[in-house]
Amino acid sequence: MCGIVGFTGAKQAAPVLLKGLYTLEYRGYDSAGLSLQTAGGIRTIKTKGRVEELESKVNAAGEIESCCGIGHTRWATHGAPSDRNSHPHNSMDGTISLVHNGIIENYLELKTMLQAEGVVFKSDTDTEVVAHLFAKCYHGDGVAAMLDVAKQLRGSYALAVITADHKNEMICTRRDNPLIVGVGEGENMIASDIPAIMAITKRFIVVGDGEVVRVRPEAIEVYDKHGARIEKEIQTVNWDIQGAMKGGYDHFMIKEIMEQPKAVRDSIASRITADDLPDLMSEGVGAELFRDIRNIHIVACGSAYYAGLAGKVAFERLAKIPVMANVASEFRYSDPIIDKHDVCVVISQSGETADTVAALREAKARGATTVAIVNVLASTAAREADHVIYTWAGPEIAVATTKAYSAQLSVLYLLALTAAGARGTLTPDEIRYYCRQLKRLPDEIEQTLLCGDRMKELAQLYYSSDDAYFIGRGIDYMTVQEGSLKLKEIAYVHSEAYAGGELKHGPISLIEDGTPVIALACDPELYEKQISNIKTVKARGGRVILITNGDYAIDPDLCDHLIKLPACPWFMTASLSVIPLQFLAYYVGVLRGCDIDKPRNLAKSVTVE
Ligand code: AGP
Ligand code: GLU
Repeated sequence: MCGIVGFTGAKQAAPVLLKGLYTLEYRGYDSAGLSLQTAGGIRTIKTKGRVEELESKVNAAGEIESCCGIGHTRWATHGAPSDRNSHPHNSMDGTISLVHNGIIENYLELKTMLQAEGVVFKSDTDTEVVAHLFAKCYHGDGVAAMLDVAKQLRGSYALAVITADHKNEMICTRRDNPLIVGVGEGENMIASDIPAIMAITKRFIVVGDGEVVRVRPEAIEVYDKHGARIEKEIQTVNWDIQGAMKGGYDHFMIKEIMEQPKAVRDSIASRITADDLPDLMSEGVGAELFRDIRNIHIVACGSAYYAGLAGKVAFERLAKIPVMANVASEFRYSDPIIDKHDVCVVISQSGETADTVAALREAKARGATTVAIVNVLASTAAREADHVIYTWAGPEIAVATTKAYSAQLSVLYLLALTAAGARGTLTPDEIRYYCRQLKRLPDEIEQTLLCGDRMKELAQLYYSSDDAYFIGRGIDYMTVQEGSLKLKEIAYVHSEAYAGGELKHGPISLIEDGTPVIALACDPELYEKQISNIKTVKARGGRVILITNGDYAIDPDLCDHLIKLPACPWFMTASLSVIPLQFLAYYVGVLRGCDIDKPRNLAKSVTVE
């Protein structure tokens, strides 16, 4: 994920681009750059680091006369954050400059082809192939070239290009990544998101998937994927800049909840082969890693630990490998029994959590092979682990994790399926079946997001309650722990998560008339057992919100509220059942007047012990 901006008009482009980039920094901030059309050709300035550093570099370059240019803030996926990997990327002769948001899945194939034709690459990015490909397809008409390029790309992208020979013109297109055109008076912009255009206009056009747009100061021409001109509706934003940063949502948390289908789709897309098998070989993780190992240790903190618990269930049931899951702060001081016969999987959104990094070092020092599942590129855990598997959730701004958690789950499923293949505990056909189901998961998440309004209504009924209980069994027990943590951290409501069968050993004494109990029943193996546990709660006056995805006949007396989720393989239900719990925490937090994106006493990245 990154931010793209472009400007063409009568005023100086650089200040407009920089202003736009500042508002897009939330989308990516490991490097920034811009390219300007000048009388002497295209001038590109780029740097590793924040937009502030780019601004200093631009200022140091002195006056650059230019009324048209493109800019980028990067969230690196291919190639470490560095000056040379920063965008824009240019053609060899410097007459074409391009910015890209997304991932080009067939970049290697294209790179090999272009290299064979004599193209010399300057960066490690997937993006640079597109700049050279555009140069190859360009014969004076940017729209024609872009249509040709798009046909040859696989993956997701928003692209913007300027050429030296067409003054004041930008060409852009998109697939599965956002892009809008800001419609001004005698000046126009392109951008990944609305805040970036608000310096000049509140009117915009949403570029559709596959459409190509030519943007000049006085005209915006939109073409469909066949090259036919189309008319587009102009929309007007009625948010202020703060609202616009959140895409019109009230908080980053809810925006990020809604981004989960994309986070999961991006995290699995390039990791399932055309033949429907898991493929983590570009991360160096193949069957070899799991074939002869003794144990897997999963180590993480907070929500990442709960994702790890769901991973443990998947590893054990699918691959029959014993898994020890531990919170990092305990693991590091537990004199852990771990050595070269073991694999240690650490999970961290930030990759900087002090306890997790220390646990990783401990496991490494004892000889284990370490795998880090991390969201932030080139973070400490990513650098230090033997293998890193990135979750492609994009920057997560809200302190409470949602989309990174979902992306972690999807990567863990792929790992568990890889392990099951290595150990022969599933047949290739069974693995293919699960991979096909996994490819459908983003759509099922999308469908599950429709329960948001319902959860809002339930939040209204229960938000003033001072306690809540979450129960689940099997894979559901892992998810309710995450749901309970969410309610604590976002809404400051005391809550407990229990294995359904454990209630009768003590906590059931706390259930009174009206106590809210959120019960998950998605694990088919344990559905009936969980029903009995729910009955016990109901008998004591608990108000039960039942969340299930099975095709079960539900006794009307079993619960007070029923949330039905789409059906999917048992271990993937963790990715669906967490969503109503996220909504519940969010709406209860809103109703209780909490600071949703920055809950009290918490930090996004906990770099202290
Ligand atoms: C999640 O909502 C929490 N803010 C917290 O538990 C978090 O998951 C934990 O601190 C781990 O962070 P990490 O993923 O960056 O390592
Ligand atoms: N894949 C590109 C890169 O790594 C673009 C990433 C982004 O969207 O910022 O440079």
